Amino acid sequence: MGSGASIRGFSCCWRKQNSFPETDVALVYRFESIAGKTKRLGGWSRRVPSGRPQASSICLDDSRRLEGYNDQSGVRGGSTVNAGTHAEGVPTEGTTSPSRLDGVDRGVDRPRILSGVQPSGKLHLGNYFGAIRQHIQRQDQGDCFYFIADYHALTSLREAEEREKAIAAKNKAYLPRPARQILAENIRDVALDYLALGLDPKKVIFFRQSDVPEVTELAWILSTVTGMGLLERAHSYKDKLAKGITPNVGLFTYPVLMAADILLYRSHLVPVGKDQEQHLEMTRDIAGAFNHAYGEVFPLPQAVFNDTPVVPGTDGQKMSKSYGNTIEIFAEGKALERAVMSIVTDQTPLEAPLDPERCHVFALYKLFATPQEVEEMAARYRAGGFGYGNAKKALLAKIDAYFAPARARRKALERDPGYIEEVLAEGARRARAVARTTLQLVRERLGLLRSPAT
Ligand code: TRP
Repeated sequence: MGSGASIRGFSCCWRKQNSFPETDVALVYRFESIAGKTKRLGGWSRRVPSGRPQASSICLDDSRRLEGYNDQSGVRGGSTVNAGTHAEGVPTEGTTSPSRLDGVDRGVDRPRILSGVQPSGKLHLGNYFGAIRQHIQRQDQGDCFYFIADYHALTSLREAEEREKAIAAKNKAYLPRPARQILAENIRDVALDYLALGLDPKKVIFFRQSDVPEVTELAWILSTVTGMGLLERAHSYKDKLAKGITPNVGLFTYPVLMAADILLYRSHLVPVGKDQEQHLEMTRDIAGAFNHAYGEVFPLPQAVFNDTPVVPGTDGQKMSKSYGNTIEIFAEGKALERAVMSIVTDQTPLEAPLDPERCHVFALYKLFATPQEVEEMAARYRAGGFGYGNAKKALLAKIDAYFAPARARRKALERDPGYIEEVLAEGARRARAVARTTLQLVRERLGLLRSPAT
């Protein structure tokens, strides 16, 4: 720790609560700051009538940093929170959220955390370290909504079908699956993977996007406040065009549906990979445009990134399904061994020292090993006479052991397909209740009053 100054004190702030426009939340908390690192020790919150002038917000920035979210306090700017830096500052158990302390405001001032995953096939280590792990870690840090983005997957289902055909052309024994089977199986696989990896459906509202069709209505409404120019600037769309894909309109308006996903649940935090950064910026723009035109309805959500470095695939490029360089989370036995052994390495002879920092095997090993094990492995590399083959074996053992419990859970879950359906149905029911509330407010703001008969 060294001689860093230590400060303890109380702090107080007001937070405007757009999700409940009639109230604000006042927070008082104790904090301790050592060598510039602030930790919240405990505190309490009260719901208070709204309408205090925003200028009265005290140390808003601190509370935002500590909480990792900002429910439209009136302070704009800083659209992202880095989970890596703030994770250390977030006290665990009992002090994470002021609502935990008095048990009164639960659901009001806990952040809403939302994320979606596309059901696009077997999940791999890149998905795990880039997103899934942080989704699961965050399930205690707020009210989480996680969903399987099946509507989004429709925008690229044709390509999935083409991929199947390509596999079948090479491997005569392979029967290419029709689109509906691909989608249904992928949805089930993602659900199984998340549950096996530790997602707790009691803590998280876990659902299938298309089970809440209200999202498409909101997407339509949002599309009417979204400029063409905004969508035309989307990197992911431009990248796909550059790859020669014939775009459908759904691919073009993909970010609007994504904004609807996020805004329908009035989410505060959206843990995603860096590749989704622009989509989150677009969501904020769209939310801002709606709020400006029709009055504040939506909090401006923040992307949350984790600080895991890019996970290299077996060829050293970023691990990605489209590069065909993945190591699947639930691969085992020969298949796992084959994937790990195929990681490319250079031609250094066995006796020579190796540079760990330039080796993809080592980069992957680091994700699984303790700091001490990483040190030991680096020393072996540098000592020479070790060889990439041994490094790969060590990595294989790590991956195998790391996911062994999840693999066992997945097998048990597979035997009970009814359970998955139940979880998703319950998730949909809970998500839908929130969705309907938001949509009703949106409709009122728009003057879209439903006739009482419907
Ligand atoms: N576009 C995201 C991806 O490909 C998936 C997604 C859809 C999503 N809707 C979302 C992520 C809403 C976060 C929030 O990874």
